[in-house]
Amino acid sequence: MERIVIRGGTPLRGEVAASGAKNAALPIMAASLLAEGPCRLANVPGLRDVRTMTALLESLGVRVVRGPGENLVLDASEATGYRAAYDLVRTMRASVLVLGPLLARFGEAQVSLPGGCAIGARPINLHLKGLDKLGAEITIEEGYVCARSRRLQGARIYLDLPSVTGTMNLMMAASLARGSSLIENAACEPEVAELGTVLGAMGARIEGAGTDHIQIEGVERLGPVDHSVMPDRIETGTFLVAGAVTRGDVTVRGCRPKHLEAVIEKLIEAGADLRIDDDAVRILGPDKLRAADVKTGGYPAFATDMQAQFMASMAIAEGTSVIAETIFENRFMHVAELRRMGADIRVQGNSAVVRGVKGLSGAPVMATDLRASASLILGGLAAEGQTTVSRIYHIDRGYEQIENKLSALGARIWREKDPGSL
Ligand code: EPU
Repeated sequence: MERIVIRGGTPLRGEVAASGAKNAALPIMAASLLAEGPCRLANVPGLRDVRTMTALLESLGVRVVRGPGENLVLDASEATGYRAAYDLVRTMRASVLVLGPLLARFGEAQVSLPGGCAIGARPINLHLKGLDKLGAEITIEEGYVCARSRRLQGARIYLDLPSVTGTMNLMMAASLARGSSLIENAACEPEVAELGTVLGAMGARIEGAGTDHIQIEGVERLGPVDHSVMPDRIETGTFLVAGAVTRGDVTVRGCRPKHLEAVIEKLIEAGADLRIDDDAVRILGPDKLRAADVKTGGYPAFATDMQAQFMASMAIAEGTSVIAETIFENRFMHVAELRRMGADIRVQGNSAVVRGVKGLSGAPVMATDLRASASLILGGLAAEGQTTVSRIYHIDRGYEQIENKLSALGARIWREKDPGSL
């Protein structure tokens, strides 16, 4: 196993380019199952989750060719498989995104039930309830969701919670259903809107993706698409916090600041100076950050995927902040590790009370999930002394070459073999 080592205390300076968004790339890759012909995707980030989705699609008979740079061609013309095996699904919950497309295209899908996960139970009952509404017959057999339907039938679906991947699965399924569907209380995340754009370009008749009310008129078949994946708003937010906690001057280029309004507002409230362009954001970190309360929520509220990173900045802010997590029930695993670096954080129910300390001190810490690992790296960048973050494989699921991007900004950070691992 590898670990990341950080010698903290250096202000980050310079420009960094945003990578393609993991949570947009994964559903778009799954959507290629719906198309007869090669889908050409650009700006696909080089991430472990993308490699897992590639392996999963290949196991279903999709031909995947990694082009030069960030390009990927996915051709499901000859795909025949409909079983997403446990070995792949257990390593990445987003594998469930193949359920809707497989069912819609082949009339049958068997997808291993994703197990529990570090940040919460994360059931998929809403995906299944929606597919049931579309006429699928669903059973659970030997740990697999088995769904069957001759042709799905359009339906009105109200989601009890605006699940992001639930909304996506249902959009993809309804696109090939007979008749019209309405998804109410849909997730409004930009990645959902982007999937709507991609499905539209494939020939789907879909309106309202990105709002809580999505209307879909099913079509007989969908064709291939050429698409460039949108920039990753969570990666961008993470770099902005890196600028904030190091009193740095960081510009993220090729991003969409509009997708980050809640994060930008909170960084301003915390005392950072932000300069915003159409496709770039520059942050100048203040000498001392100020406490700012945060409550996570569905878009456009503050993203749960930025909660851990923002907490690292509040750990060294002046004053006490309350960070409430409303999406996942167990997304405070980074707290114990930040405390090892000297942070003063108490968890009370679904909130963390963060009393800012003068500074953090470097320590050996362990990553527990993707965004927790980003938070620990940010803590390490701000801390005096050396931090080692072990179990770093989590970070490679969702950040492309994070140590290279940060060292280009002047951070003293590198990856090495973890002598503590087997
Ligand atoms: N939920 C249910 N039943 C369902 C679906 C969801 O109860 O059938 C609950 C979940 O347990 C959770 C809440 O609803 O408490 C919201 O979950 P959602 O379904 O929206 O999450 P997701 O679709 O599984 C996506 C992202 C996550 C991100 C969440 C919330 C992808 C591939 N994953 O997950 O990204 O945190 O939305 O915005 O898009 C990450 O990138 O680090 C990550 C975890």
